[in-house]
Amino acid sequence: MSAGYAVGVIGATGAVGREFLQVMEERRFPVRELRLWASPRSRGKQIEFNGKPYTVEALEDAVYEGLDFVLISASGDISRAEAPRVAQSGALAIDDSSAFRYDDDVPLVVPEVNAEDIAWHKGIVAIPNCSTTPIVQVLAPLHAVNPLRRIIADTYQSVSGAGGRAMGELAEQTAAQARGETPAVDPDVFPHVIASNLIPSIDSPRDDGYSKEEWKVWAESRKIMHIPDLAVSATCVRVPVFRAHSAAVHAEFSEPFDADEARTMLEDVPGVQVVDDLAGEQYPMPSDASGNDTTWVGRIRQDMSHPNGLVFWVVSDNLRKGAATNSIQIAEAAIANRWLKQAQPA
Ligand code: A2P
Repeated sequence: MSAGYAVGVIGATGAVGREFLQVMEERRFPVRELRLWASPRSRGKQIEFNGKPYTVEALEDAVYEGLDFVLISASGDISRAEAPRVAQSGALAIDDSSAFRYDDDVPLVVPEVNAEDIAWHKGIVAIPNCSTTPIVQVLAPLHAVNPLRRIIADTYQSVSGAGGRAMGELAEQTAAQARGETPAVDPDVFPHVIASNLIPSIDSPRDDGYSKEEWKVWAESRKIMHIPDLAVSATCVRVPVFRAHSAAVHAEFSEPFDADEARTMLEDVPGVQVVDDLAGEQYPMPSDASGNDTTWVGRIRQDMSHPNGLVFWVVSDNLRKGAATNSIQIAEAAIANRWLKQAQPA
């Protein structure tokens, strides 16, 4: 058998799916065999990887035996159906959906924060929602020195978080507005015009007045950072930006946190880059984060409304660190630490 790993991608034609391939190429992930799956509409399409064409297969024909990893980013229903089959076949499913994130026997992982949780997987590892990832990357190292009590996070999420069709919708609506026309709305993408607008509703509504996306920030930050009683409140907003999610985060710690000390600490955190000079108009923006794997943080300041509070602004590319890169890093950590095979019951 030649060196490398047998990798499958479910949703290979999608916004995140294509990014999986791009990130594997860039990181020289050792791929010995590659299988690509999407809907029957894409059957027979060719996608290049490392200069070689691969044919997309319809997911309904998928067999996972013989694979080492299957990267999944299609829909929650597809993950629910396919990830257990992947695990059953002996491969590791790395899943971008929310289908398994809250299951007690599925690790939810941002490798810079809790890579060791991969060790107890039973065939499925979930990655967090793309707005949670950068928030915990910044908060976890601060929490390690001054325990976190509460976070209030307001997110500004790009349309690519809703998939390739949503990016097309923003482009078409923006062009229509530039022509002086009223943009058409595809209700299957967003319920309102997104061009020149903000939509304070992402994912489904909940009975408690929060959206499911806001609930995800609550549940996922607790699970990833292992702080089961962390108080979290989020407001998630869709903004007319193609790529990269931003968040304004107000964090309350057990003791006062000096902003300069926090800034200095964050300068040494792998994967995080501090850009913080308000007077010089230097702060992270989606245009800085788009297309790269860095989580950018700035506007770090003491919260004038709370003695133990710290405020910051964080930006990262939702398709890369928020999805594809995080997944590939999990695969790399599983290989490096020999966590590929499922943990056996004690
Ligand atoms: P397809 O391109 O054939 O529709 P995005 O997040 O950008 O919307 O991409 C969603 C991904 O999920 C695409 O690769 C899409 O394939 C795939 N997908 C959607 N529906 C199905 C399905 N029923 N079976 C398999 N893959 C699907």
